[in-house]
Amino acid sequence: MAEGEDRTLLEVRHLSVLIETREGMIRPVSDVSFAIGRGEAVALVGESGSGKTLTGLSVLCLFPPGATVPSGEILFEGQDLLRLDAAALRMIRGQRISMIFQEPQSALNPVLTIGTQISELFKSHTDLSDSQVRERVTERLRSAGLPDPERVFKSYPHQLSGGMRQRVMIAMAIALDPHLVIADEPTTALDPTIALQILALLSSIRESRTKGLLFISHDLAHVRRVSDRVLVMYAGRIVEDTPAPRFFGNGPLHPYSRALLSSRPSGTGGTGRETPLPAIPGQVPPLWNLPPGCAFAPRCPRADDRCRTDQPPWQSEGASGALCFYPDLSSPGAPQHVA
Ligand SMILES: Nc1ncnc2c1ncn2[C@@H]1O[C@H](COP(=O)(O)OP(=O)(O)OP(=O)(O)O)[C@@H](O)[C@H]1O
Ligand SMILES: [Mg+2]
Repeated sequence: MAEGEDRTLLEVRHLSVLIETREGMIRPVSDVSFAIGRGEAVALVGESGSGKTLTGLSVLCLFPPGATVPSGEILFEGQDLLRLDAAALRMIRGQRISMIFQEPQSALNPVLTIGTQISELFKSHTDLSDSQVRERVTERLRSAGLPDPERVFKSYPHQLSGGMRQRVMIAMAIALDPHLVIADEPTTALDPTIALQILALLSSIRESRTKGLLFISHDLAHVRRVSDRVLVMYAGRIVEDTPAPRFFGNGPLHPYSRALLSSRPSGTGGTGRETPLPAIPGQVPPLWNLPPGCAFAPRCPRADDRCRTDQPPWQSEGASGALCFYPDLSSPGAPQHVA
């Protein structure tokens, strides 16, 4: 890459998504801003329902039916995806940005062989001949850790185990050598050894220094293995954006992030086992009935009256930032959160 070329791959600015539900209007993605650099793996963590999947889908401009986008920009390689037409977006999806979906079952067509499904990607985006396509597909299946790619090529999804289907999804995601891969809980339901292989494969995506990874996960042990930076979501907002060494070293800034870390069960680090985040006392408030101030205030040990009535500001320290009146800024003797 030329000297001085922009290292930013993706920049999401002030993105909000509104959805009309039976309970009322919700904003599951609320004023979300973050960036992913070339060669960078960014993790997105948070409890169930915090908006991680919708944020990932939004980067591809895949919004649920009935959703509206009142504000925001999604700048990918300098282009605002929200301003592109459907045909231009189709060219970007799969080819320059790809997503490993949270439910691989629903993303694979049950009546087509794996080979047909991945070949289709090459046929719609490249001019390769049939034999070249077959060669590429087999090569991608092999690099996704599938030991017998010829057999997988001829198989239907139901003939493969869950772990193999997940690797097929990864082969599809990396098929066209995209610049950005969004991996939504890619290790759920995998046994620990396979999960570790998948994590290594995902990590390698960014090693080219031109590509980026958005890694959505519940599992902080996995996040620690894969990511350079950690984003934490709560009730539709990014409440923390901190480099991984600080997040897992001196500790994050936001009380919610600290609660996530300290409620993590000990002894899982490094096993690759997918463990759901253990409960933090209290519950995430419903999106249609958020408290007026900070959404985390009702569960936060540090909250005072101001937190309960006013929206907290974004406060930064170095490369870290948090949406909080009382972020935990560096101080001598800050607690160590090391697995
Ligand atoms: N199509 C939809 N219509 C209405 N509400 C939706 C829709 N999709 C998601 N939501 C709501 O938006 C919120 C965020 O959902 P999302 O799937 O992004 O959460 P998540 O952080 O990925 O959760 P999980 O960890 O369980 O995968 C949830 O409250 C969810 O109920
Ligand atoms: Mg999700």
